[in-house]
Amino acid sequence: MAILLPGGAGYIGAHTAVELLNSGKEIVIIDNFSNSKKEVLESIKQITGKDFKFYEMDYRDRQKLEKVFEENKIEAVLNFAGYKAVGESVQKPLEYYDNNIYGALVLLETMKKYNVKKFIFSSSATVYGDPEVIPITEECKTGDTTNPYGTTKLFIEQILKDTYNSDNSWDICILRYFNPVGAHESGLIGEEPQGIPNNLMPYIVRVAAGILPELSVFGNDYDTPDGTGVRDYIHVVDLAKGHVLALDKLDKEKQGLYIYNLGTGTGYSVLDMVKSFEKATGKKVAYKIAPRRAGDIAKCYADPKKAREELGWIAEKTLDDMCKDSWNYINKHNS
Ligand code: WQD
Repeated sequence: MAILLPGGAGYIGAHTAVELLNSGKEIVIIDNFSNSKKEVLESIKQITGKDFKFYEMDYRDRQKLEKVFEENKIEAVLNFAGYKAVGESVQKPLEYYDNNIYGALVLLETMKKYNVKKFIFSSSATVYGDPEVIPITEECKTGDTTNPYGTTKLFIEQILKDTYNSDNSWDICILRYFNPVGAHESGLIGEEPQGIPNNLMPYIVRVAAGILPELSVFGNDYDTPDGTGVRDYIHVVDLAKGHVLALDKLDKEKQGLYIYNLGTGTGYSVLDMVKSFEKATGKKVAYKIAPRRAGDIAKCYADPKKAREELGWIAEKTLDDMCKDSWNYINKHNS
């Protein structure tokens, strides 16, 4: 029996593929390389010493997707094929709604057709909008998302809830990621944003590497200790391990719908991140204070209690690990 990973060559997908293979699972990856690179597949094999089947395809292609289910005994699906750049989603909402929502619908309809009911969805803390309560628990209000990317996550969560309510034989886990950063310690896989990075850590490492001149800190007048935005940064390997434990939970429970925040429970400001990166790597990060970025919120960090109690999951990697691993990755790839 195999675990199907749409988008498994991407940042989160590849790290989860490594942890699944390391835990003895068989996987099948499908990816169209719209936001990933073919070389990642070899890196996954090199890190784990394991092989797996791969199909180059768009997960919205119903005919090709059915062929994957015909040719493989799929027991569960972990979906990593969503587009995920907040800023880009504001510029290209139709592409985001088509890829993220239509893609999820094709996936779920195909799973239903082949009676595969175990599904883990990569959701996001953005479904909480601008949170009224901090730290954020899974019971906090969702909605009022501030960008199309977050709205696609909210809509797919609703699709999953309605699907489960219509048929309780589904076995679904929604994982709400906070801010994934870092890379596998080998430096063979990591975050490869296309073009100028939207996210903070990929931008910082490119300034440190001399690829970009300086970091713009988007606002220092928020209601936070140093005025800059506070987020819950979580090492991508800790995040990946959370998926393995979520799969174990679905295997044990056989059916249900579960929602977990995957965050560390600690918030760091933009300037905290700059200082931590400089301390961890010895590299200077030039920055300037710039105007706030539209759609940004002041503070967002998780209460990770539920995942700890119900999945036995806790983030182990430190901020120093996140900085060092991010730096190690770009050094290995900035040739
Ligand atoms: C973090 C902080 C910025 C860049 C989004 C998605 C989330 C997840 C991660 C996919 C904020 C500040 C950033 C820069 C800056 N997506 N910043 N200068 O917006 O919290 O979360 O990406 O997994 O779902 O919503 O992440 O890294 O863009 O920003 O000052 O050049 O860094 O204002 O305070 P964000 P981010």
